[in-house]
Amino acid sequence: MDCVRDRRSGFEVSPVRPRVVITGRVPQPAVDLLTPVAEVWMNTDDLLPREQLLAQVAGADAILSLLTARVDAELLAAAGPRLKVVANVAVGYNNIDVPACRAAGVTATNTPGVLTDATADIAMALVLMATRGLGSSERVVRSGTPWKWGMFEFLGVGIQGARLGLVGMGQIGVAVARRAKAHGMTIAYSNRSAADPAVVSELGAERLSIDELLATSDVVSLHCPYGPETHHLINAEALSKMRRTAFLINTARGPVVEEAALVVALREGLIAGAGLDVYEREPELEAGLVDLDNVVLLPHVGSATIETRTAMATLAARNALAVLSGQPPITPIT
Ligand code: GLV
Repeated sequence: MDCVRDRRSGFEVSPVRPRVVITGRVPQPAVDLLTPVAEVWMNTDDLLPREQLLAQVAGADAILSLLTARVDAELLAAAGPRLKVVANVAVGYNNIDVPACRAAGVTATNTPGVLTDATADIAMALVLMATRGLGSSERVVRSGTPWKWGMFEFLGVGIQGARLGLVGMGQIGVAVARRAKAHGMTIAYSNRSAADPAVVSELGAERLSIDELLATSDVVSLHCPYGPETHHLINAEALSKMRRTAFLINTARGPVVEEAALVVALREGLIAGAGLDVYEREPELEAGLVDLDNVVLLPHVGSATIETRTAMATLAARNALAVLSGQPPITPIT
């Protein structure tokens, strides 16, 4: 069937309107890109039961998936043979069974790049909050507990001259390193491959093994993808290698850290503190975590700015439209 060019999006589309399913609410500009060329169904119910999602994807040509939707063989089978593309509205894609997509001939895409700065800002915020004890200090003021200025009150530790150890040196790791360098930190990283030499010389970044990094960093910040190789990368043994004065920051994915072991390490002072934006069984928290004063807890807000969420959703929509019009996706998962 001949394609026609859609005047608004510029994509070649079939005159038979494809069906696009969006698994959760996304900013309107992304929907506006899709509606001229596709029949769009968007879930507006936060707690859509799985069976209803499986029913909704039947006959879909494209799925825009939020990271809360599990895209596995079951969902791909429920969608059926028309499905051409799953466009994740996230850079992390541990919710997608990529081999199952490949086996079903479905292209999978994610949204790298557009959330780098927002996520790096939150990682840096957590570094500052954790090292300066800002979460617990804020709780004192907010609770109405009497407080006063005092030479030895609310003391944190300074980060100038401290070593930041980055586990993972992709786009977000590099963006965090730039921020940390501006705060006077020195940079070390551990990554499967060496970082770009230009970035290494700009940042003066030293590449270390994970064990060396854990043993010598004042702050360890996680920026690796989550998968079988990084499941519980930071477990009791890894935590025991860290300095007792060190802090752990996680803005990557919760299960990279064994949360039960982290609670023990924080409670027993094996490390000084932590800053978390992600959790092992989100939104559930490991028992005991909320009772600890030396951990800052954020509700997975790494990419949560209006601009960033809009950029993520429109990139996902453009990925879907590209594939539906027979073009290569913009940011495929490879
Ligand atoms: C957010 O967590 C993302 O992976 O985009």
